[in-house]
Amino acid sequence: MKTALIGLASRTDLFPAEHFPCLEGVGSIFRLSEDPDRRFALYASAGMPGKGAPPHNHTTWAVISGVYGDEHNVFYERIDNRATAGEGQLRKTGELTVKRGNAVAFLPDDFHTIQVTSDSQTLHLHMYGMSLENLPGRIYFSGSTGGTYKTYPANPNIVSPLVTPAEVKAMLHDGGELALLDVREEGVFSQRHMLFGVPLPLSRLELRVDALVPRRSTRIVLVDADDGAAQKAASRLVALGYRDITVMAGGVEGWPRPASSCSAASMCPARRSASSSSITTTRRACPPRRSRPRSMPAPT
Ligand SMILES: [Fe+2]
Repeated sequence: MKTALIGLASRTDLFPAEHFPCLEGVGSIFRLSEDPDRRFALYASAGMPGKGAPPHNHTTWAVISGVYGDEHNVFYERIDNRATAGEGQLRKTGELTVKRGNAVAFLPDDFHTIQVTSDSQTLHLHMYGMSLENLPGRIYFSGSTGGTYKTYPANPNIVSPLVTPAEVKAMLHDGGELALLDVREEGVFSQRHMLFGVPLPLSRLELRVDALVPRRSTRIVLVDADDGAAQKAASRLVALGYRDITVMAGGVEGWPRPASSCSAASMCPARRSASSSSITTTRRACPPRRSRPRSMPAPT
């Protein structure tokens, strides 16, 4: 597993920095993949200088490798007899600065600290035996020798990678299946939206998404008003089993204003399949221009 993760993390072309910014504070954890049963969960962890974590375990196996930047790890084993709830003792067993080309691996009861030691943002791949939302018993100690410990929340703030508007534009032409879902509420959507954007209001997400995107493997790009709604939608879609989700950076305002006529650079509406009500599309060519139905809002 270490060898495989080192090889993947070394593919820096797969992990452009703009896809994995620190969205809040000194770090963000991006979900890259996980099995339908929530096992074999892969994350990209972005960290700013100063990011650190106290001694903690994982309650499942874990492997970490670097994409860019340095993250210093100190390893510990727990040496107390676990007779006193909320307290324990640790002993240091080693240390390693994890970077591109190396990796660390942990068993469920191993402990480590992390500390970003680079002077710019870092990115590391973290592979766990079970997704973080399903690890309710992880603990962290107050100090490097142990002491009191507390339990991590079972539902950490996991986010989805970003894609740029230019990349979304390329997706619309790459021949692959794509669901471009606008999670703003319908009133706002009607005022301005991307031509291929399909409304899936956050407030009605669970009611509508099955009909719009029946297959869980569909590539999905979420669009919002750059207000965090798309990340909320992403978490809910993951819970429903969707696995290929990204969020367009900057929200709908980041999308270029339309040309005055249908051109090679313009986008055409996502078409519903004749055999289903889904909205994913694989190929689009600009149809003949027609006057817009009165009910269709002005696309952008
Ligand atoms: Fe960890």
